[in-house]
Amino acid sequence: MTNSFEAAFAKAKALDAQDPLASKRDLFHLPDGLIYLDGNSLGALPHSMPARMQKAVQQEWGEGLIRSWNDAGWYEATGRVGLQIAKIIGAKANEVIACDSTSINLFKVMSAAAQALPERKIIICEEGNFPTDGYIGEGAAALFGKEIMLANQDNIEEKIAQAGAQLCFVSLTQVHYKTGRMLDMARVTQLAHAQGARMIWDLAHSAGALVVKLSECKVDYAVGCGYKYLNGGPGAPAFVYVREDLQSDLQQPLQGWFGHATPFTFDQSYAPATGMAKLLVGTTSVLSMIALEEALKIYEGVSMRAIRSKSEALTQLFIELYDAYIAPLGFGIVTPRDAALRGSQVSFTHSEGYAITQALIAKGVIGDFRAPNILRFGFAPLYVSFADVVRSVEILREVVESGAWQKPEFQQRKAVT
Ligand SMILES: Cc1ncc(COP(=O)(O)O)c(C=O)c1O
Repeated sequence: MTNSFEAAFAKAKALDAQDPLASKRDLFHLPDGLIYLDGNSLGALPHSMPARMQKAVQQEWGEGLIRSWNDAGWYEATGRVGLQIAKIIGAKANEVIACDSTSINLFKVMSAAAQALPERKIIICEEGNFPTDGYIGEGAAALFGKEIMLANQDNIEEKIAQAGAQLCFVSLTQVHYKTGRMLDMARVTQLAHAQGARMIWDLAHSAGALVVKLSECKVDYAVGCGYKYLNGGPGAPAFVYVREDLQSDLQQPLQGWFGHATPFTFDQSYAPATGMAKLLVGTTSVLSMIALEEALKIYEGVSMRAIRSKSEALTQLFIELYDAYIAPLGFGIVTPRDAALRGSQVSFTHSEGYAITQALIAKGVIGDFRAPNILRFGFAPLYVSFADVVRSVEILREVVESGAWQKPEFQQRKAVT
């Protein structure tokens, strides 16, 4: 440890000592000696999870067998988890349900918006968004005879105005998966509404890390992931939100039996359930849903404001240390310096970003890489400490200065980056 880092560690220690969320870290399993800055991709394992999963498998599945759909509450789990998530994203209790993947839920809400406003021909999708959002947009546009207008975070306001009365819906991700830049949900939603269009937000990088106010912003539809900041585990169920007043007329094309008004009458024709249940399609992935429900208990009683404040402070400290120690080593930064404009991640650029990320992981600091040149670091406020922030920068500097990243093993691209 150099003297310069000593001062940073002293600051971090003071911040950790005052952190009202510090005790939440003890609720997670974090391997010894590892700094985990990838909770924006896959959240950490809650300590309570193995016992809960053992119960779900041995008792509910093993002993209860099919009876557990009724006796262990499996059937209602989608709604229960939806309610847990509603509290985290500023929605009403009856506006969220957990199911399927984010991609599938996007398809449902894009289809719903397209069918609600059939005469309007333009949909706005985000250029440079996480690819699945664009792919689903292309599919929905082809199916419902819409034309895609691409917009980005810089020109979204102009594009909404340009589409005017032809605008059917706008689909955006609130926090950009590469840069971490955050859009103003209230403002953009209001601009879309001013044109008579519907607004869809992807909350993949927001839910669990920001103060999201879906109801207050009058958002029409939203989707998001259960496996990132919500810590539901790999491939956890996603969620979907539909504003209360849009639910009764909502049509979505994936008419599966779980979304039927009375699945167990086995009617030959589809009749949609009322409320959010009509967003369901097929049988719930029960074990994954139970895992998500267990993970979400950690959020009970935790203020999202406290989470957001810590997130801003963590990312602020990381950026300050970047300026002092990392910027001179050939890196750039693509995340806004203004905390109000960023989510809970910070991204750097470097032409050798992949190899540096791998070398960093080998040294016990887990971030990830997004092609072509982005090193991405996520700060999950429930379990990342200020000391982690300092140590990660110290190790990043060592990795670059020592040239450790040049080893051939760090050049080999793995399937998942
Ligand atoms: C903005 C965004 N949307 C969606 C997804 C993932 O969608 P799915 O859960 O369907 O794989 C991601 C994954 O990182 C994402 O960043």
